[in-house]
Amino acid sequence: MKTILLKSGYSIPVMGLGTWLMNGRECFDSVLMALENGYRHIDTANAYENEDDIGQAIQTSGINRKELFLTSKVWYQKLRFKDVIDQCHSSLEKLRTDYLDLLLIHWPNKFIPMNETFKAFEKLVEEHLVRSIGVSNFTINHLEEALKSTVLPIAVNQVEFHPFLFQKELYQYCKEKQIVIIAYSPLARGKVFESDLLQKIGQNKDTGPGQVALAWLIKKGLVVIPKSSSEEHIIANLGALSITLSDQESSMIDNISENQRFINPSWSEFDA
Ligand SMILES: NC(=O)c1ccc[n+]([C@@H]2O[C@H](COP(=O)([O-])OP(=O)(O)OC[C@H]3O[C@@H](n4cnc5c(N)ncnc54)[C@H](OP(=O)(O)O)[C@@H]3O)[C@@H](O)[C@H]2O)c1
Repeated sequence: MKTILLKSGYSIPVMGLGTWLMNGRECFDSVLMALENGYRHIDTANAYENEDDIGQAIQTSGINRKELFLTSKVWYQKLRFKDVIDQCHSSLEKLRTDYLDLLLIHWPNKFIPMNETFKAFEKLVEEHLVRSIGVSNFTINHLEEALKSTVLPIAVNQVEFHPFLFQKELYQYCKEKQIVIIAYSPLARGKVFESDLLQKIGQNKDTGPGQVALAWLIKKGLVVIPKSSSEEHIIANLGALSITLSDQESSMIDNISENQRFINPSWSEFDA
């Protein structure tokens, strides 16, 4: 699988499996299917309450840990120094691993100083429990503050990003700062399948709108983490890796954006 080099010096596979809202047997089966079909990057979070299912699937797959890229996230209410350390240890135990490839602040929280959270991240990196660190749901203002709050490179910002939400300014800013964007909800939670333009571009390439949306993100240098619990979809999404979009097709997709956000939870007021 193609990878992108992070500012931390480690590489991240451009496609991973999203696991939000999957738990128990469904999560176990999906992760195992993904691993058996060539995925090596799994995205989870302490708040998803599925790290144990993922750990079991990894163990069952028998795949060498060194081949995998595992991301977890610390919840916005758990960003105090001790809470971060405790959450990371809990993630490691449930995932049955000695280290996380990437640990993220899940959502910003203005009531907890960023440098306190990052001090904990720094300790975890020093102890080799975490390789790269990053953030999620951060705006440019949050990133400005984050960059001043730690000696570690902020390797990624995981945000909602898909053809209906092309976050141009954030994209440019991250490019300048060499912060890789991980696009979450890259299929717009299913809405991409309704787009006439994505369907038309897909038909010309003998593929579907989902693969076209993912290929558009990958062409921009983003990492994608589509979620699926269906083997057919898990395999189909990998097809995006072998699609080449022309610059013209790409710019037509750039113009779809309706600034439509699907993830807007009540707790995002904590970053106001
Ligand atoms: N950091 C954050 O705050 C944050 C927030 C949201 C999401 N995320 C991460 O991003 C991941 C992906 O986002 P998401 O789960 O919101 O949505 P998504 O990946 O954009 O869309 C998932 C939906 O698309 C369907 N799907 C997937 N592949 C398909 C295909 N080839 N054909 C038809 N339907 C297909 C899935 O159904 P099936 O299961 O039936 O295939 C599911 O209903 C999450 O799972 C999570 O890991 C992070």
